[in-house]
Amino acid sequence: MKRTQIKVTTAEAKRQADIATQLSYHIKDKNLTYFIATFGCQMNAHDSEKIEGVLELVGYAKATNENEADFIIYNTCCVRENAELKIYGKLGNLKARKKKNPNFMIALCGCMMQQDIVLDTLKQKFNFIDIIFGTYNIYKLPELLQTRLETDERVIDIWDTHDEIVEDLPSIRKHNFKSCVNIMYGCNNFCTYCIVPYVRGRERSREVSDIIDEVKHLVADGVKEIMFLGQNVNSYGKNLTTPTTFASLLTQVAKIEGLERIRFMTSHPKDLSDELIEVMASTDKICKSLHLPFQAGSTAVLKKMNRGYTKEQYLELVNKIKVAMPNIALTTDIIVGFPSETDEDFKDTLEIVKVVKYVSAFTFIYSKRTGTPAATMEQQVDEATIKIRFNQLLDVLNPISAQYMQAQVDKEFIILLEEVSKNDNNILSGRTDTGTLVHVQADPKDIGEFVKVRITNAKTHYLNAELVNEKELGV
Ligand code: SAH
Ligand code: SF4
Ligand code: F3S
Repeated sequence: MKRTQIKVTTAEAKRQADIATQLSYHIKDKNLTYFIATFGCQMNAHDSEKIEGVLELVGYAKATNENEADFIIYNTCCVRENAELKIYGKLGNLKARKKKNPNFMIALCGCMMQQDIVLDTLKQKFNFIDIIFGTYNIYKLPELLQTRLETDERVIDIWDTHDEIVEDLPSIRKHNFKSCVNIMYGCNNFCTYCIVPYVRGRERSREVSDIIDEVKHLVADGVKEIMFLGQNVNSYGKNLTTPTTFASLLTQVAKIEGLERIRFMTSHPKDLSDELIEVMASTDKICKSLHLPFQAGSTAVLKKMNRGYTKEQYLELVNKIKVAMPNIALTTDIIVGFPSETDEDFKDTLEIVKVVKYVSAFTFIYSKRTGTPAATMEQQVDEATIKIRFNQLLDVLNPISAQYMQAQVDKEFIILLEEVSKNDNNILSGRTDTGTLVHVQADPKDIGEFVKVRITNAKTHYLNAELVNEKELGV
């Protein structure tokens, strides 16, 4: 059943937290564990932290791996077809586990659930799933769990829209020194290939005061770096009762004492203001890295994508950014094979890559999403042509990235040490202000600290470094 949300407040978040706490008697003494697999973007990753917050309140402990967990949650993505196929594949493997373990439960949530066609498939082919909810009602999870645990019925609760924003959900942060913060939800841009506006709804900005309170709270809790999240942060504040700008939000947040670094994503080129460039350039705490998806180089294709800028306007914008911040690290998203893309059009994509010289790029093969305008466009490009173009694109991108990485050798950076390297227990990984991954031999007790390093050599996706001197406090 689809429902439209009515006004929800912080008090509602508290009510849900109370339900979660009361539910703990259901699983008391059973030593039950949960495992969340998160697909898609940072939005989903951040939502999963909220889901973890609820599950831990209920009394579930985090499982070390998926195969051991009593409760499996897939937080899904549907931006490309592959993301959806992965979920169906994984579900097929879970049915048998339900028979073996009486406590075993499966919940599905996230963007994929907001599509009717997916719900129909799940009802028909995967009727063993315990709880299904969407992107608008995550905060209701305690109540959904209550229904499932107390009535033993399957729960499907998907809502169509969402007007208000629920503040103060419990949340489990992955790191204690850095955190993501949502500044807005949804998207109004309707790029013709993209499903996101249909599954995440219209743009809704959080109040400046709520964001500042959250950041202050995080900083008091040890956070030094924040990442502001929104599908298009550059249009932040436009729909608030007292309209404001993203640049103004950044200026106010940068004043918070103890906060050292501010990152954000994603920036839509059509809404990136001169004011933002100025604030970025003049505020040390704002990291000098910018994710600026261009999607396609050809103005004709950009028009069909409904992106709102031409090739020339994009290049002009990049130029302005580089003049203001010569050390800026630019990254991007590129789609290959949008309907009607010709070899000539594709050359424009290669040209942008060569001119801008991205530090790295996410490259995607166009994926038809049912319900979007591009899905029914004529002149869909054939797979073989797309493959050739995709490889050509990588052949241009990779040497440019390698050149950038190589140029960092012997330079010194302040990095924030984030975690023990996945491949070597003696090595820690951290990031520069420009967002580059750096590996360095350092003491694990310094995770969460800023240290000065000198780059010793460059790899394709990261840099190796040595510590320069004692750990530095602050940037
Ligand atoms: N709001 C962000 C991007 C969100 S989706 C922005 O506008 O920049 C992340 C990326 O997925 C997009 O930038 C785009 O490159 C890619 N993408 C979205 N829909 C796609 C589709 N149908 N096929 C292939 N790639 C797609
Ligand atoms: Fe999708 Fe475009 Fe919105 Fe990004 S700006 S989420 S690509 S519709
Ligand atoms: Fe993100 Fe995928 Fe949803 S990219 S917004 S999780 S469709």
